[in-house]
Amino acid sequence: MKEKSYNKNLVTIIAAVAATGGLLFGFDTGVISGAIPFFQQDFHLSNSMVENITTAGLAGAVIGAILTGRLSDIFGRKKTILSAAIIFVIGAAWSGWAPTPESLIIARLFIGLAIGISSFSVPLYIAEISPSHIRGRLVSLFQLLITIGILVSYLSDLAFANNNDLQSWRPMFYMGIVPGLILLIGIFFLPETPRWLMSKGREEEGLRILKRIEEPSLVEESMQRMRDELEKDRSRPNFREVFRPWLRHALIIAVGIMFVQQFVGINTVIYYSPKIFMIVGFQGAHAAIWAAVSVGAVNVAFTVLSLFMIDKLGRRKLYFIGLVGIVVSLFALGLVFAFHDSLGDTGKWLAIVFVWVYIAFFAISLGPLGWLIISEIFPLRVRGIGSSIGSLSNWLFNGIVAFTFFKIVKLFTASGAGIITHEKLYDAATNTFTMQAVDNGNPAGAFWFYAAIGVLGIIWGYFYLPETKGVALEKIEDHWRMGGKPRHLHKAQSGS
Ligand code: BGC
Repeated sequence: MKEKSYNKNLVTIIAAVAATGGLLFGFDTGVISGAIPFFQQDFHLSNSMVENITTAGLAGAVIGAILTGRLSDIFGRKKTILSAAIIFVIGAAWSGWAPTPESLIIARLFIGLAIGISSFSVPLYIAEISPSHIRGRLVSLFQLLITIGILVSYLSDLAFANNNDLQSWRPMFYMGIVPGLILLIGIFFLPETPRWLMSKGREEEGLRILKRIEEPSLVEESMQRMRDELEKDRSRPNFREVFRPWLRHALIIAVGIMFVQQFVGINTVIYYSPKIFMIVGFQGAHAAIWAAVSVGAVNVAFTVLSLFMIDKLGRRKLYFIGLVGIVVSLFALGLVFAFHDSLGDTGKWLAIVFVWVYIAFFAISLGPLGWLIISEIFPLRVRGIGSSIGSLSNWLFNGIVAFTFFKIVKLFTASGAGIITHEKLYDAATNTFTMQAVDNGNPAGAFWFYAAIGVLGIIWGYFYLPETKGVALEKIEDHWRMGGKPRHLHKAQSGS
């Protein structure tokens, strides 16, 4: 077979195609919010049934992340992403077609599987094909596409929402077929990662691919490093290996960074921003949704910025800058809600500005860093299973935060401090939407609670967040084997 030669831009194209998995992740988690009011009325559902449908997606993601980590070590990164693409397409078609609520639950569970699978396998794939000096940027493409997916889902919900047509939730879900097909077709053109091929003893194939994506002068060095890593341990890897003492730090980092990413409350803003903006005084569901679209746009814009900073400033600097900004803006947001009565109209605008600031700081730091770090810190032999544990933690923490948000709001609301809104709500008994007064509690305490977790995150990060900028993946393993501290990782010699 004729060998193809090195192409400088190829690796970026490959990464961009794979990152379409992120677009699906963002789209499929975001699309449900706009669809809920329609299928709720269409199927005559109680709020608890709606919750079951929403939770089914999250549950599927947890299952997908945990079940397939090991499979990606056995069958390869490419086949794992391929399976996610197939599930995305079928799941989107099924969600749109679902004739009964039960069928919709299973469809959401099914598509959740694909979200869980892609959330760890795509960053992992990209990390393994990338030269180390641009690895951060390329893996962050995944996060960029998540944010674009969320924004597109808001926009497509807006485009299809038709108050005269209860079935308008169906096209919202059908839209997911399009990015699913892009990934499905694209994946056939992507190579398997040289690192995984090497781990299976397929050295020649690995070399052929490496020559196309790695600078010619670095190919041999890179091959040698992978060989050395595999030489260190030829026994068959198993699930328990990832819990060995020398990998303790890697495990703490994977779970810890996802804890911080989720417990600063990001998805209360992503999922509930229309509600938050209504509470603060934007009138009507439409204004509130537009406010949410603005949040999505800020998220995309600052994620783009992070692509240019992540390999320059490094992971630790971005982490601390981001978290300080997040803590300050959460604190300020809490103040706006606490003094909501006296601030009047100004409060409404201050709230939206601080939400933008909060999202901007998240987008340059914890958003991309979570997925990047879990794809970097595990040694090749257990990289699939290791990063799937990180991803599983992400979905679990995400579920806990989403499930507890309104409870935390209630818990921290002093009596009489609740903010009342008048909303058009669904009444299952009469199957109509009627105007009702809702006591929302006051989210000030909840935002301060997330700010406090952010402060803990800063302290945790000082000890545990590794600087992986420019460090070859194989060097990271050496550092753990030698019992090195996470915060000294940057001292591990850099290379490609
Ligand atoms: C997080 C998601 C979040 C998204 C927002 C991702 O990194 O894992 O939970 O919704 O960023 O941009």
